[in-house]
Amino acid sequence: MLTTERLVLRKPRPDDDLTAWVADTEVQEWIGVDHDPAEVIERWMRRWELNGIGPFIVELDGRFIGRAGFIVWDSRTWEPSSYDVAGEHSETELGWAILSPHWGQGYATEAAQAARDWIERDRIISLIHPANVRSQRVAEKLGAHIGRRVETPNAPADVWVHPR
Ligand SMILES: CC(C)(COP(=O)(O)OP(=O)(O)OC[C@H]1O[C@@H](n2cnc3c(N)ncnc32)[C@H](O)[C@@H]1OP(=O)(O)O)[C@@H](O)C(=O)NCCC(=O)NCCS
Repeated sequence: MLTTERLVLRKPRPDDDLTAWVADTEVQEWIGVDHDPAEVIERWMRRWELNGIGPFIVELDGRFIGRAGFIVWDSRTWEPSSYDVAGEHSETELGWAILSPHWGQGYATEAAQAARDWIERDRIISLIHPANVRSQRVAEKLGAHIGRRVETPNAPADVWVHPR
């Protein structure tokens, strides 16, 4: 568990209720549409099991407001993968998403900063859609620098590289 000035970050649990998450069309617009809350939480837990890292649940006053944390990608295909499978081609992404009623209060930046401080990896990237200005702003505030553009199976993405 990680704590910041305003937030708690913890690992996902089977009883986490992500109904508000799948209903938030503004969030889904940027990260892909999910319909089943149970499927989402299972996926997040699986990432932790596979790689020992994954997305943290972000809580404000004990309530779920989003996620911040890690996905391992295979840079040959830009599909989610594992360190075992992708090997030297693996990239560790720091990602963030906050329920839309809570946008604009610095929560994504605060949560991402805590997750980044916690992880022990030399190279951390963020994949951000070229039109996602809010997310670009978070990356800038975190001191990340924009690098090359890649094609993921769903969309183009700029590879932002974080300071270490
Ligand atoms: C991106 C996201 C996580 C930002 O969350 P947040 O808690 O609002 O982020 P912060 O408050 O820390 O920072 C947002 C910044 O974007 C700025 N911003 C807000 N709307 C903006 C706009 N339309 N254009 C440009 N910048 C904008 C804010 O002013 C703020 O910057 P500032 O602190 O310099 O004022 C949130 O919008 C979200 O969940 N979006 C959908 C999911 C997503 O895109 N995730 C990232 C995938 S790469």
